[in-house]
Amino acid sequence: MNYQLLDLKAFGDERGKLISFQQGVNVPFEVRRAFYIFDTKTGVARGCHANRQSQFLLIPINGSCKVSVNDGNQQEDIVLNNPHRGLYLNKMVWKKMYDFSYNAILLVLADTLYDEKEYIRNYDEFLKEVKQ
Ligand code: TYD
Repeated sequence: MNYQLLDLKAFGDERGKLISFQQGVNVPFEVRRAFYIFDTKTGVARGCHANRQSQFLLIPINGSCKVSVNDGNQQEDIVLNNPHRGLYLNKMVWKKMYDFSYNAILLVLADTLYDEKEYIRNYDEFLKEVKQ
């Protein structure tokens, strides 16, 4: 699968809930980086790129957004609005995050260190490389 929604098991008790990410348990790669996207302005789209080397797990820890994913074979628009549900993205998936709610915080885990050179920011270039 080049992208997949993953159910995230929460530990819950009378105090509230906790979701842990642990390699080999619920993260399908070795986590080397984490970042979060927040304070996104209304009407703004983020992403609009593919990564040659990176896998990601996107978790809407607060609020909601939509993600348009395209792996070269199919395009799908996925709503992320539940912190119990993350979106796994393999390498070479074109992604656009949009329709962020005012309070959205999108946590992203990745298996690489940041390297601008592994980004494809031109859609035609992505289509060319993904079909090779
Ligand atoms: P950008 O790739 O434009 O974000 P998005 O994918 O949400 O559109 O990144 C915004 C800026 O942050 C850019 O200057 C690069 C920097 N950045 C890092 O330094 N490290 C990171 O891990 C990421 C994801 C971005």
